[in-house]
Amino acid sequence: MDSYTHYLLLFFLASLYLHTSNLCFCLGDELPSSVNSCIEEERRALLSFKKDVTDPSGRLSSWVGHECCRWRGISCNNRTGRAAKLDLRNTYTSHREYEQSCLGGKLNPSLLGLKHLAYLDLSSNCFQEIPNFFGQLTSLRYLNLSRLSSSFLGGEIPSSLGNLSNLNYLDLSWNLLFGGKNLNWLSHLSSLKYLNLGSVDLSSTGVSWLQDVNMLPSLLELYLSRCQIQNLSLSLPSINFTSLLVLDMSGNEIKSSFIPKWIFNLTSLKKLDLSSNSFSGSFPDEFASLTSLEHLDLEEIGLHGQLPKFIGNLCKLKFLSLGANKFDGGIHEFLSGFSNCSFKIMESLDLSHNDFNGAIPKSLGQLSQLVSLDLRGNSWEGTLTEAHFINLTSLESLLMTTNQPEGIIFNFANYEWIPPFKLREIEMDNCRVGPGFPVWLQSQTELTFLALTNAGISGGIPEEWLFKTSSYITILDLSENNISGKLPFRFNFPNVEFIELSHNRFNGPLQLLSTNMPVLQALTLSYNYLNGTIPSSICSIQSLNRLSLGNNQLSGKFPQEWGLWSNIESLDVSNNNLSGNIPTSMGIPTSLEILNMENNHFSGEIPSALQNCSSFNRLYLGGNKFTGSIPFWIGSLVPFLNVLQLRSNLLSGHIPEHLCNLPYLHILDLGHNNFSGTIPKCLINLTSLVHATSAWPILPGHASTTVTLKGRELEYGQNSIRYLTIIDLSSNNLLGEIPEEISSLLVLGTLNLSMNQLSGTIPSKIGNLQLLETLDLSQNQLSGQIPQSLSSLTFLSHLNLSHNNLIGRIPTGNQLQTLDNSSYEGNPLLCGFPLSTKCHEDGDDKPHAEENKDHEDNDEKIGLYTSVVLGFIIGFWSVCGTLIMNKSWRYAYFQFFDNIKDKVALAIALKVARYQRKV
Ligand SMILES: *[C@@H]1O[C@H](CO)[C@@H](O)[C@H](O)[C@H]1NC(C)=O
Ligand SMILES: *[C@@H]1O[C@H](CO)[C@@H](O)[C@H](O)[C@H]1NC(C)=O
Ligand SMILES: *[C@@H]1O[C@H](CO)[C@@H](O)[C@H](O)[C@H]1NC(C)=O
Ligand SMILES: *[C@@H]1O[C@H](CO)[C@@H](O)[C@H](O)[C@H]1NC(C)=O
Ligand SMILES: *[C@@H]1O[C@H](CO)[C@@H](O)[C@H](O)[C@H]1NC(C)=O
Ligand SMILES: *[C@@H]1O[C@H](CO)[C@@H](O)[C@H](O)[C@H]1NC(C)=O
Ligand SMILES: *[C@@H]1O[C@H](CO)[C@@H](O)[C@H](O)[C@H]1NC(C)=O
Repeated sequence: MDSYTHYLLLFFLASLYLHTSNLCFCLGDELPSSVNSCIEEERRALLSFKKDVTDPSGRLSSWVGHECCRWRGISCNNRTGRAAKLDLRNTYTSHREYEQSCLGGKLNPSLLGLKHLAYLDLSSNCFQEIPNFFGQLTSLRYLNLSRLSSSFLGGEIPSSLGNLSNLNYLDLSWNLLFGGKNLNWLSHLSSLKYLNLGSVDLSSTGVSWLQDVNMLPSLLELYLSRCQIQNLSLSLPSINFTSLLVLDMSGNEIKSSFIPKWIFNLTSLKKLDLSSNSFSGSFPDEFASLTSLEHLDLEEIGLHGQLPKFIGNLCKLKFLSLGANKFDGGIHEFLSGFSNCSFKIMESLDLSHNDFNGAIPKSLGQLSQLVSLDLRGNSWEGTLTEAHFINLTSLESLLMTTNQPEGIIFNFANYEWIPPFKLREIEMDNCRVGPGFPVWLQSQTELTFLALTNAGISGGIPEEWLFKTSSYITILDLSENNISGKLPFRFNFPNVEFIELSHNRFNGPLQLLSTNMPVLQALTLSYNYLNGTIPSSICSIQSLNRLSLGNNQLSGKFPQEWGLWSNIESLDVSNNNLSGNIPTSMGIPTSLEILNMENNHFSGEIPSALQNCSSFNRLYLGGNKFTGSIPFWIGSLVPFLNVLQLRSNLLSGHIPEHLCNLPYLHILDLGHNNFSGTIPKCLINLTSLVHATSAWPILPGHASTTVTLKGRELEYGQNSIRYLTIIDLSSNNLLGEIPEEISSLLVLGTLNLSMNQLSGTIPSKIGNLQLLETLDLSQNQLSGQIPQSLSSLTFLSHLNLSHNNLIGRIPTGNQLQTLDNSSYEGNPLLCGFPLSTKCHEDGDDKPHAEENKDHEDNDEKIGLYTSVVLGFIIGFWSVCGTLIMNKSWRYAYFQFFDNIKDKVALAIALKVARYQRKV
């Protein structure tokens, strides 16, 4: 992961953490309160402190005059008049706000003048280091240095903190500090009740950190999340911190075949979080001893097997997450356990992304306090009835998807039934909710997150319902249904950020008022029956980031107002009937990264205005009537292109050498044009086709990763990367030889040079292209023998050398044995398997005169294959970003990040992280 995504990742987790933690500060009865006076010596100390602090938003502006106890952030003891509390925590709601209001600069040792300072909170600011002198603030009982810097501190924890023997609370989280060889300093803090070392790197302490923590008998809350802990002592002679209430070891790198037994001796535990580690085995019986547990998070820790009934006996559980494990079987047993509890107080249950199957039992409905239920990503089947929901009066979040083909069927005996809950989030995929929008769904009018995909819903969206709901919605995803009628955009969606209505039957014009959706970032309307022109009003949605209108029946020209957009990054209008030139205004939003105008009737030259889009990433202009040559700016001014797809146009001229200045290019498709001249030798400079790793520049720095696409996990490893590396120059007027340099494009997956006038021999080192799957050199004038090295291409599944002047014996071995004679036909002087023409046994490799009779044409197949691959790639990129986002991440973090790009990058980063951990 590069540092940017790393940073995003941590920031996101931080924000979640802020959302979920609720702590109480119990400083005893001597809590300072404001008095008006001020001790002069302390006033001067504070002013010296202020002098060195940068304060862009003026948070310390009240620090003037003599009454320092009334200054913002300061509280004095009401008996002694001494400063007892300094609270300079930066409170913020967005990343931008964080940076605007953080205090920075130097932490002046004048603070030591506050001899009675008991409480110091400098969290969430922009300071540079934890100064050594903090170890002399010996009156401190509360010290919060969480996220002291906006860019992470790094460096080692000053061991002088070990002198703060009165400390009750110590929070050093979110600084990426280094824990050093040991935490001996910690063992001196014997009064510590609360310790948060989240994201401190403890990997060098081995198992010794636990010994040091074990010296803290008063400890109640211990947070060691993301500390890169690899080892956990599996046994301890005795435990000092038996009163522990909270243990958070989430996101470490612990690999162990079982959960250490000592954890089960912590019988007072109320909260245990072991999520995102690698244990294995089934759900441990020992959990039965942790009867005080209220919050148990075992997400993604590698457990499997059936869920035991005794979990239900943990009657105090309010929060249970077992997501992303490999639990299987039904959940009937597990739920029946809860019938022993006199009060059922479970509020949040997460069983998502396991291998559970069968029906969802009615007994789920007994968990009457449920607020959040996540059952996504399992193999559920069967029906859901009123009984499942009738007691769930508090439910706010209902997330349910299944990968069974039959889906989950909503079967309410009473169609008019209205459930007792008011949902805020609903996500369902492959759940038969339709036909139509049922009454129970229409009774939900406070939805912020509405995602009902592949739900069998037909008919129009009920207007009255949408009218009530639209003002709450931030995410709307109704893709893959049969919804018909006009688009629902006459309503006000003041909060909507994301709309996905693809694969439905919406028809009529694309009408929308930009003022109705002022914060919309992503709009996907592809695969509908929209017609008419693209309204210029769409260009007034300033926040728009991604727009997908592909596969409709839109016609007319592209709106000239295009230049109004300032944030647009991705635009897809492919497969419509649009015409006219590309407006020159299109180069104005320089933010554009992806432009897909494939398969329309656009004409004219590719305008030079696009050269302003210096971050262009993927350009698909194929299947239009563009004329002229490949413009100079491609490769000169726009260096980051990954995909250049110009196939099936009327383009002409040479293939210019400046194309070779595209180090990230991995799809070059110029087929079916009128290009002439020779194939440039400089193709060897396309480094993404030479090295595997750079062929994947979109995802953060990794050649293999997983991406969620329409609910499925697709894995792109080293082996499948070849699908994404294509050179197609077919059906042009290219002359001359195939440059030998082409055999240096080691990660090429598809090479199609068919239907040109190429002559000379097939490059002898073609066998170097070890990832080649498709090789089509048919219908040229190639001569000489087929190089023996071709037989070393083990992935080759489509080979077409037909209709050339090749001679001699066809090489044998590996994949070549599986190909049929259509690969070679139309070369009268070829001989040997699979052709029926036998070679002379005398070794001169001349064929018998017998004519090869098989004239089956293979071009169509190859063409189809290529377009399938291309279609796949295009489709993949146009949906993946948006879906990653809406399928897996909740609105909590949507509120936090400023734009979709960050969200997508983050979601991918998280996926990558998760995948890497699994490997
Ligand atoms: C001083 O503060 C304590 C705790 O806040 C409070 O109980 C007490 O009444 C205060 N004393 C005076 C004189 O204000
Ligand atoms: C420290 O401050 C952060 C906010 O900056 C807060 O989330 C955290 O709970 C605080 N820690 C303690 C122990 O109060
Ligand atoms: C428990 O804590 C005490 C004092 O804090 C210490 O002396 C003792 O060694 C600790 N026991 C273990 C097993 O670490
Ligand atoms: C844990 O509890 C068991 C049973 O109560 C006891 O035998 C064992 O010594 C305890 N282990 C530790 C490390 O305290
Ligand atoms: C719903 O609650 C009622 C009253 O508490 C109870 O009788 C009924 O069994 C519950 N239904 C389900 C499905 O748990
Ligand atoms: C759009 O399609 C409808 C039928 O669905 C048709 O009546 C209408 O004339 C079309 N409009 C345009 C501009 O093509
Ligand atoms: C290809 O790269 C080489 C070495 O980096 C450079 O000298 C050459 O000019 C490049 N050729 C083209 C056409 O960009």
